[in-house]
Amino acid sequence: MGNNGKVVLAYSGGLDTSVCIRYLQTMHKLDVITVTVDCGQDDDFKEIEKKAKAIGAIKHVYVDAREEFARDYVIPSIKANGLYQSKYPLATALARPLIAAKAVEVANREGATAIAHGCTGKGNDQIRFDVTMRALNPKLKIIAPIRDMNLTRDVEMKFAKEQNIPISAEAKKYSIDLNLWGRAVEGGNIEDSYFEPPEDAFQFINFANDKAGYIELEFEAGTPVAADGKRMPLIDLIEYVNDKAGTYGVGIVDHIEDRVVGIKSREVYEAPAAITIIEAHKDLEKMVLTKHELAFKRMVDEQWSWLAYSGLWQDPLRTDLDRFIDATQIRVTGKVRLKMQRGSLRVVGRESKYSLYKNDLATYAAGSTFDQNLAKGFVELWGLQSIIANSVAAGATSGDDKKTKGGKK
Ligand code: ARG
Repeated sequence: MGNNGKVVLAYSGGLDTSVCIRYLQTMHKLDVITVTVDCGQDDDFKEIEKKAKAIGAIKHVYVDAREEFARDYVIPSIKANGLYQSKYPLATALARPLIAAKAVEVANREGATAIAHGCTGKGNDQIRFDVTMRALNPKLKIIAPIRDMNLTRDVEMKFAKEQNIPISAEAKKYSIDLNLWGRAVEGGNIEDSYFEPPEDAFQFINFANDKAGYIELEFEAGTPVAADGKRMPLIDLIEYVNDKAGTYGVGIVDHIEDRVVGIKSREVYEAPAAITIIEAHKDLEKMVLTKHELAFKRMVDEQWSWLAYSGLWQDPLRTDLDRFIDATQIRVTGKVRLKMQRGSLRVVGRESKYSLYKNDLATYAAGSTFDQNLAKGFVELWGLQSIIANSVAAGATSGDDKKTKGGKK
């Protein structure tokens, strides 16, 4: 038994965190309490508990955080059109601060002196865990065995075998991170940036539906509340959209991503619901927000996504931005219809009672209320400086300038 007290380990049941249990016991002489936080990863949590105890955890805590994840992390991200580098819907990034917060709660309750996670020193997750843990309880010592010992997956695999720690077949092939908002697939042959991810890398995406299909999403104040005419709680709605859009091949993201620590990595995600919902949300915003709101909010969205990605969820700027974003969402109410086919996604219709699109202004047909006479003067003033700049530049190249100056001599 550990004589250095208790440590709470954020435990997923995967390879990294499983070998951590054993390292914490043997090298740090700590009693290990494992915490598994359910953010919709759809795992067999009974099995995970069994596994933790079999490896040596003295206690295991399961936390169902799905509601909280949806309400306090996913909804703000939808409102912020949360995409890192315009591509990645932040699924892993959003879950980490919540998992860290739950682990701290357990550590406080159990009187632990240390808190641990299974992150490597190469990724973003270590930042998200460390910063949240320190922000919420700076007294806890943070231990990250994989990072501390500079371990590679192969060494971990060998250690696991020696120590009789079971490894799943999937872990041998890829490293997966799954939650309600998306799934990241890493490792194996996917690390070759030119290698196309094979179909077996995906769980939601298949091409069961070959013909085009539609999905209709309804939003209230920036939050999706109904899909295909049925109102449902957000968790159910996300699962519904994941399944449906997935069968049309929608939601694969394959890009080169800049990690906070400077490494470029090839990332493969599948997030049918996140991609579809954000696409619809952005489109609805374009209909109800002014062009000034849209231009400013685009910068805010980008900054918000960067804070979430880079592990600064706890920074007050994030909540400051949330307040601005919430204020813009009051009118983001309405319906969006999207068409999907073999991986393509396109908004084909939108409507809102707060729409700023006025057909009588926009129409080219009879009955327009737009007075074209007003345009003439406006256009003249709008282009004023551009026109002057062109004539000044033309004078400079034709040598007019020199002539007049020289002529005065
Ligand atoms: N690159 C993504 C991020 O930093 C996903 C990482 C998922 N992988 C993982 N091992 N947690 O959020």
